[in-house]
Amino acid sequence: MRDAKGRRYLIRLQEGGRFFHHKGAVDHQAIVAAGPGGIVHTHQGEPLWVHRPTLEEYVLLMKRGATVTYPKDAAALVMMLDLGPGMRVLEAGTGSGGLTLFLARAVGQAGEVWTFETRPAFKERAERNVAAWGASNVRFFLGDVGEAELPEGAFDGIALDLMEPWKVIAHLAPALKPDRSAVLYLPNITQVVELVRAVREKALPFLLQRVIEVGHREWDVRPPVAHPAFRQIGHTAFLVQLRKLAREAGQEAV
Ligand SMILES: C[S@@+](CC[C@H](N)C(=O)[O-])C[C@H]1O[C@@H](n2cnc3c(N)ncnc32)[C@H](O)[C@@H]1O
Repeated sequence: MRDAKGRRYLIRLQEGGRFFHHKGAVDHQAIVAAGPGGIVHTHQGEPLWVHRPTLEEYVLLMKRGATVTYPKDAAALVMMLDLGPGMRVLEAGTGSGGLTLFLARAVGQAGEVWTFETRPAFKERAERNVAAWGASNVRFFLGDVGEAELPEGAFDGIALDLMEPWKVIAHLAPALKPDRSAVLYLPNITQVVELVRAVREKALPFLLQRVIEVGHREWDVRPPVAHPAFRQIGHTAFLVQLRKLAREAGQEAV
């Protein structure tokens, strides 16, 4: 649901339910009748636009434990992992399940996401978020991915959004198929440096393919006004792509 000021609200429609906006209330029944793309009015006459949430909207508005991977980065991460239907991808940490949902959509019903989380409350929250979205191709695991028993060469991609990936990357390397990628989401450049140093020092079988930041500049276009929006999403994170080599890399690979 979106109001005239562009504020968005995520609501689960229920029999006999009522949505309360600060400019009046509206029955869930009226929202159902209007349908996606329709419009309803509160009892005070305020217009509200009815939308089925996109995945981006859902991830930004769903209940969170941990901070989610920002959707612009999640979309780029899916591209960098080169995911497609039927693939199996490994993820850690699950957090709130935001990135999990982007991965699950990319691999489709014929594919799987294996996701690891150390904190039980976060895992439970993520399971609820993923189920409420309707994804059923996710396997949740409680525990440190750095100690997980993983089948060798079984994953088409690895997505990591956790504080200290350099502690787990050596353990995960054998689980990734040759020539496929691990993509890491790291908010701080110091983490990127620490990761690259660890890959080099441990001579892990990875090529450092690229380190990027995803720009996203919103514009305010309401003719005759047309300028960059005053409020912007600033820095979110760096994305680091490590490509698995078929042989032992040696120090020169990174
Ligand atoms: C920033 S959150 C991930 C958010 C997630 N990408 C999302 O979109 O909702 C990082 C999570 O990694 C978990 N974590 C940290 N180290 C871990 C490890 N070694 N194994 C599994 N989970 C870990 C933390 O408990 C935390 O919930």
